[in-house]
Amino acid sequence: MDITRRPRRLRRDGIRELVSETNLESSDLVVPIFVDATTESRTPIESMPGHERVPVEESVARVEEALEAGVEAVMVFGIPESKDSRGSRAWAEDGVVQRAVRRITAETDAYVITDVCLCEYTEHGHCGILEEDAEADGRLTVRNDETLDLLSKTAVSHAEAGADMVAPSSMTDGMIGAIRAGLDDAGFANLPVMSYAVKYESAFYGPFRDAADGAPAFGDRRHYQMDPANRREAMREARLDVEEGADALLVKPALPYLDIVSDVRREFDHPVAAYNVSGEYAMLHAAAEKGWLDIEETAMESLLSIKRAGADLIVTYFAERVADSLS
Ligand code: PBG
Repeated sequence: MDITRRPRRLRRDGIRELVSETNLESSDLVVPIFVDATTESRTPIESMPGHERVPVEESVARVEEALEAGVEAVMVFGIPESKDSRGSRAWAEDGVVQRAVRRITAETDAYVITDVCLCEYTEHGHCGILEEDAEADGRLTVRNDETLDLLSKTAVSHAEAGADMVAPSSMTDGMIGAIRAGLDDAGFANLPVMSYAVKYESAFYGPFRDAADGAPAFGDRRHYQMDPANRREAMREARLDVEEGADALLVKPALPYLDIVSDVRREFDHPVAAYNVSGEYAMLHAAAEKGWLDIEETAMESLLSIKRAGADLIVTYFAERVADSLS
C-alpha cells in the first residue's frame, strides 16, 4: 500500500494548533444573568446548575463574578415584582432591569446587553398584548402592532438606565424598526440593536422559562416564534431585520440550528450571534451528573461548533465556566 496523502500529518501536537481553523475566545462570550425583584437573597435555579436569580442589590456582585471569570459582556433578564396584562413593569423607570442596569453600569465596566421582551412581565406570559383573533376561531393571539410601541418604550427605558445594547426577543413583526425609531427619537442613535432575528418555537427553552418565570400561562408561542421545520424563512426574517436597522443578528437556539447559523453567516455581513439556550445547558449538566459526559469537554466542543458554524459571539450559560481555559 502506497499512501502519499496523509491528513494526519497536521494533527500532531505543535502543528495542530497552528492549522486550527476556529478559535474560541472569552471575548466571544456573553453570560445571561437573572435579576429578580421578588427575592431578597440569591436563589439557585435548579435546572440550570451554577446559575441563580439575584436581587437587584446583588446584581453588581453577580456581574463582578463574570468579570473575574474573564467574561466581559452580560445579558440582563428581569423578573418583576408584579405582572399585568400589558407587562407595564417592563418599561418602568424603577423596573427591575432598569434598577439593576443603573447600578451595573455605574459600578462596573461590563458591556451590558438587555433582553427586550414582555413575556416575563405579562401575567399571561406571552410576548405582547393579547386579543381574541376572529381569524383564528376566537383564540387569543398576540396583537402585533399594538405591542410595538411597548417594546420600543422598554428599549428606550433600558437605554436611559445605561444599557450598552438592546436585544429584542419577542418575534414581533416590525420590532426592530419600531425600536430603532424609538431609540433615535430619544437621543440614542449610537446604541446598537441585536435582533433575535431568527428565534424558533423551541422546547429547549424549558429551563429558562422556570428561571425567568416566563412560561405562557396557556397555549404556546407557535403563532409568533418560527417553525423549527423552516430554513429559508430564516433568511427572510433576518433580511427584514437588516432592512429595519438591526446591527447584529442572533439565531436561537444554537446547537439544533447550526445550519441556520451557517446560512445567516453566509448571507449577511452583519455580526452573527447564537444563543446556546437553557435546554442545551441543562442537558449536558444532566448527563454529566450521571457520569455519562464530561461537562468541560462537551461545553467547549459545543461552543467551538457554534463558532465554527459562523457565530461571532455566543450567549451561553457556560461562559464563566469555560472562560478560564480560553485566552
Ligand atoms: C424571551 C426569551 C426566552 C429566552 C430568552 N428570551 C424564552 C422564550 O422565548 O420562551 C430563552 C433563553 C433560554 O432558553 O436560555 N424573553
